[in-house]
Amino acid sequence: MIVQRPPLGWNSWNTFGHNISETMIREMADAMVETGLRDAGYEYLVIDDCWSLHERDENGRLVADPEKFPSGMKAVSDYVHSKGLKFGMYSCDGTLTCARYPSSFDYEFIDAATFAEWGVDFLKYDNCNRPVNYPGRLLYKRMGLALANCGRDILFSACNWGVDNSPEWIKETGAHMWRSTGDIVDNWDSIKNLTLAQLPLLKTNGQGCFNDMDMLVVGMGGKGNVGFGGCTLEEYRTHFSIWSFFGSPLMIGCDIRNMSDEIKAILLNKEVLAVNQDAAYRQPFEISTVHWGGELAWSVWGKFLENGDVALACFNLSDNNTNPCLAMADLGLGGRSGKALKIRDLWSGEELGVFKDQFVIDVAAHGCRMFRGQVVDA
Ligand code: GAL
Repeated sequence: MIVQRPPLGWNSWNTFGHNISETMIREMADAMVETGLRDAGYEYLVIDDCWSLHERDENGRLVADPEKFPSGMKAVSDYVHSKGLKFGMYSCDGTLTCARYPSSFDYEFIDAATFAEWGVDFLKYDNCNRPVNYPGRLLYKRMGLALANCGRDILFSACNWGVDNSPEWIKETGAHMWRSTGDIVDNWDSIKNLTLAQLPLLKTNGQGCFNDMDMLVVGMGGKGNVGFGGCTLEEYRTHFSIWSFFGSPLMIGCDIRNMSDEIKAILLNKEVLAVNQDAAYRQPFEISTVHWGGELAWSVWGKFLENGDVALACFNLSDNNTNPCLAMADLGLGGRSGKALKIRDLWSGEELGVFKDQFVIDVAAHGCRMFRGQVVDA
C-alpha cells in the first residue's frame, strides 16, 4: 500500500479519551457526512485507546468492550463503511497501551489478523510500556510486517512522538505516517511548541510516510480530554494553516456533531486543504524569519505546487502584530524575469492583485495569512 497524500480524518482521543461508545462513533460517522467533512476529503474515522476489555480471549485475541461496543467491532466498522468512510483503530507496541489496555507486543500477527477481519483500514500504533530490551525500531517493524501481510490494506500510523531518533529509521518500518512530535493539548502554547519542534524535521517529511504533527484541536473550545485552556478562533485558524502548509495529516479532534459555522469554515476551507493535499507534495521553504529574544517570532513560507502556482504563508507566533515584506526576487520573480505573482487570499477569498516587486503581509499576533499565487506576465 502506498499513501500519496497526507491522510485526513477524525480521531476520538482529543475530545473523548476513554469515554467512547458505539453510539458516539456512529453519530460521528453521520456527522462526517452531514457536515460535508467526508466530501471535503476527511475519510478516516479512528477509535483511539480504551476500546478493548482488559483481558484477551482464550485464543489470545483482543476483545472489544461489550459495554462500549455491544454490536462488536465488525458491526461498527460496517456502519462506518456504509457511510463511505474508512475505519481506524488503535494499538501499541508494548505489553499495555498508554491507557493500560492489552497491547500488541508479541501479538503483532494475531492482532493484525483481527484488525483485518474487522475491516480496519487504519491502525494508529502507540509506543507505551515496551519491554526494555525491545527498541521501537524493532517493534514498529514487527507490526509493519504483520500489517503488510494481513491480507488487507491497512494504513500504518506510527505514534512514537518522534523519540528514539525515529526520523533515522521510521521509514524502514512500513509506517505511512509517523508522529513527529509529542502530544498536543488545546491551547496556544502547545500549538506553538509543536510548530517549533517540527521545523528541524520538515526535511524528513515526504510522500509515502508523512510527518504527523498530532491531531487537530480546532474547535475543541477548551472542552474534552485534552481541552486545557482552549484557543481563540484566530489561533485555531493559525494551527490549521500551519498543519496544512507543513503537509501534516489532518485528523480532527473536536466534537464534530456540534461545530460552530466559524469552526466549519476552518476545517472545510477547500483552498487551504488543496495546499495540504497538493499532488506534488513539495517541501515548504522558509523565505524570511524573524527571531525575538532567541525565539522564532514570525516567518514567511513558500511552497511550489504541482500546477506551477506558489503557496505562500506567514505564521506569527509572537504576541505582536507585524507586517513582513516578501521580495518577489526570493521566488525568482520580478526584475528581468518579466513575471509577477497574482495573489489570492485563501482565508478571505479575496483577489489581492498582481505583485512584481514586493508583497507586504499584515499578520495579527498569533495569526496567519495564507495565499495562492499564480505566475503571470508582469
Ligand atoms: C498517547 C498518544 C495520544 C493518544 C494516547 C492514548 O501516547 O500520543 O495521541 O493515543 O496515547 O492513550
